[in-house]
Amino acid sequence: MRLLVLGGTGFVGRHIVEHALARGDDITLFNRGRSAPGLFADVELLRGDRGGDLRALAGGGPWDAAIDVTGYRPQDVGASSRLLAERVERLTFISTISVYDAPSRSGITEDAPLAALSGSGGWEDYGPLKVLCEQEVGAALPGRALIVRPGIVAGPHDPTNRFAWWVARGARGGRLLAPGAPQRPLQLIDARDLAAFVVELTAAGTTGTFNAVGDDLTWGEMLAACCALGPDATPVWVPDATLLAAGIDEAQLPLWIRADDPASVGFMRIDGTRARAAGLLHRPIEQTARDTHAALRAEDGPGLDPALEARLIAA
Ligand SMILES: NC(=O)c1ccc[n+]([C@@H]2O[C@H](COP(=O)([O-])OP(=O)(O)OC[C@H]3O[C@@H](n4cnc5c(N)ncnc54)[C@H](OP(=O)(O)O)[C@@H]3O)[C@@H](O)[C@H]2O)c1
Repeated sequence: MRLLVLGGTGFVGRHIVEHALARGDDITLFNRGRSAPGLFADVELLRGDRGGDLRALAGGGPWDAAIDVTGYRPQDVGASSRLLAERVERLTFISTISVYDAPSRSGITEDAPLAALSGSGGWEDYGPLKVLCEQEVGAALPGRALIVRPGIVAGPHDPTNRFAWWVARGARGGRLLAPGAPQRPLQLIDARDLAAFVVELTAAGTTGTFNAVGDDLTWGEMLAACCALGPDATPVWVPDATLLAAGIDEAQLPLWIRADDPASVGFMRIDGTRARAAGLLHRPIEQTARDTHAALRAEDGPGLDPALEARLIAA
């Protein structure tokens, strides 16, 4: 497939490009050329800014499909989608489960009520803005749009450091503070499973809207996978009340979902039945943990760069 990827060098986008390259797709990237320059050196790059400079896009194509990984503002997504309506057969938009309105219950399906803008301009408008972005895509390419709503994404090269923090903590070993209770629900989708789903559905010409969330896990299972990476790593479960009294917040304990926050609990039990029926597969959390750890060690950890090591040995 001739595939245009808007973004493509961040976290989710990078795995999408890698999956498409492995399939043999003919890829064009559109981005500013700032993030991870040289990552896909052999892939055609159209340089531009989706916040205003779409000239390179206007001169490119045609493509069989485009995947918009990096749309956050409806005016930007509307402009690029209208332009691409003439140049692509279909458009895939990466959205988020944050589009749902207060998911205080388990089992949110794709037709659940969507969130409205608060007007604050803050982080809480991330989801509502994505709702408007989805609408822009649908309006520009009616019947030709695929909307994918991922849950929390985990895996190698995650800049948010949410799951990676627990991987690193498990690998350090010893007694580690675990928030709440081991039965607490959690859904993490491996970025590579998400990428495979997005690219394969795009290639198949599938349209419609899909929640792309991970398997129904528990914190106990997630931490067991992380603790397997370190010497004698053992979770010690500390009640939410104790953590709150000590002034602990999510910045210190990434992914922490408090039992007194029903909206967050609902976010961890989103219904992924439709995506699984359409082909979404999940690798085991142990594999996601191992690979995330390997990437952490390769990218951030101390030690000798493998290429330099090889050169020194050869010399
Ligand atoms: N991480 C999660 O847990 C999670 C969960 C649900 C949904 N999502 C969704 O997944 C997507 C995240 O994608 P991502 O991690 O690949 O990357 P990202 O951080 O959204 O975007 C990075 C990519 O976009 C390009 N870019 C950024 N600003 C640009 C601009 N003004 N004009 C043109 N290109 C621009 C970057 O290249 P340059 O800097 O070189 O321009 C880079 O290729 C988002 O849509 C997010 O809503 C993520």
